[in-house]
Amino acid sequence: RGGPVPDTRGRELRDLRISVTDRCNFRCSYCMPKEVFNKDYPYLPHSALLSFEEITRLARQFLGLGVRKIRLTGGEPLLRKNIENLIAQLAALRTLEGKVPDLTLTTNGSLLARKAQALRAAGLSRVTVSLDSLDDRIFRGMNDMDFPVADVLEGIEVARSAGFEHIKVNMVVKRGTNDHEILPMARHFRGSGITLRFIEYMDVGSTNGWRMDEVLPSDEIIRRLKAEFPLVQLDATAPGETAKRWGYADASGGHGPALGEVGVISSVTHAFCGDCNRARLSTEGQLYLCLFAERGHDLRSLLRGDASDADIAAAIANIWGHRADRYSELRSELPADTSGQHKRRVEMSYIGG
Ligand code: GTP
Ligand code: 5AD
Ligand code: SF4
Ligand code: SF4
Repeated sequence: RGGPVPDTRGRELRDLRISVTDRCNFRCSYCMPKEVFNKDYPYLPHSALLSFEEITRLARQFLGLGVRKIRLTGGEPLLRKNIENLIAQLAALRTLEGKVPDLTLTTNGSLLARKAQALRAAGLSRVTVSLDSLDDRIFRGMNDMDFPVADVLEGIEVARSAGFEHIKVNMVVKRGTNDHEILPMARHFRGSGITLRFIEYMDVGSTNGWRMDEVLPSDEIIRRLKAEFPLVQLDATAPGETAKRWGYADASGGHGPALGEVGVISSVTHAFCGDCNRARLSTEGQLYLCLFAERGHDLRSLLRGDASDADIAAAIANIWGHRADRYSELRSELPADTSGQHKRRVEMSYIGG
């Protein structure tokens, strides 16, 4: 008992993504369009949320099953009150190998300047900040809350001063909305020590009105970058990695580490389900085996019933052992403009990116 569990396709559970709130102070149209996520939207009541103790208890079982990386997501995770207390509890856990788990968080950056120091002190290893444009007008429009770029950039700087290394910036690219910002973003972060990653706009959830013609394929992103910067392909750092990595080449054509790297996450045009080792825990304790799943597996009732830790670990192992999900691969086999947006698919703000 204990130890890594393969699913039906031989993929071991390694990465746990925990959504700590289904709320956000942004309204990015690709994620929480204002027309849907308005004041009448049925957000989860407080009693439905897993407590920090419940999350930590579950995380301990996941680590015992081979998980090495824990990512806190949302909604916007920094909106969860006293999130640093959860981080401190998670940072005290150990992997099967007896190591501190890679403990990271994805944030929109709006509260980062205020929170970075406390997050670092609590034991957070890394942060990833979402930023879709450096052009203030475009950015204010994309977050649809008129939130300025400067505050996110300040959050990144404060995080850096607080001691965070290997900071990543994620940019969702929508053709016709911010694709002209690819090169300015690359120029800005090149050589800064921050890794910029371009994410293909995905048909996740059922509210964002996704259309294939708004996806800019990552091959095209790389083509545009190469027109300005020589790039060399880099090896993956871990199996199941979402991003394909490219290093900025130096004059000799090799990778100049000082110049850093960029990444592309091509869930639409080059699916990476083959070695997907990610599980997602929703804010209310439903375990999802795929970003595109239509239903989860209830772990909260186990937590709030009389299940022992061993019972919970066995339940998780059993759920993962039956996993067959590979949505993005299946979608790429469908006609080009087919999206499952008619289906009742879970929202990314609920399940966590
Ligand atoms: P690190 O590289 O370790 O920092 O983490 P990561 O690659 O998991 O990156 P991150 O959490 O920043 O994920 C970036 C984005 O990739 C997410 O916001 C999603 O848009 C997308 N993504 C992450 N995991 C998956 C996945 O399993 N399936 C799909 N289709 N997209 C994913
Ligand atoms: N397509 C791609 N990425 C998305 N995200 C949210 N919605 C989408 C989507 N439709 C991701 C972005 C953001 C993170 C919080 O969630 O990467 O940075
Ligand atoms: Fe909020 Fe992130 Fe979704 Fe934007 S993408 S609405 S910042 S959770
Ligand atoms: Fe994993 Fe599902 Fe994403 Fe494929 S679509 S990489 S199975 S989360």
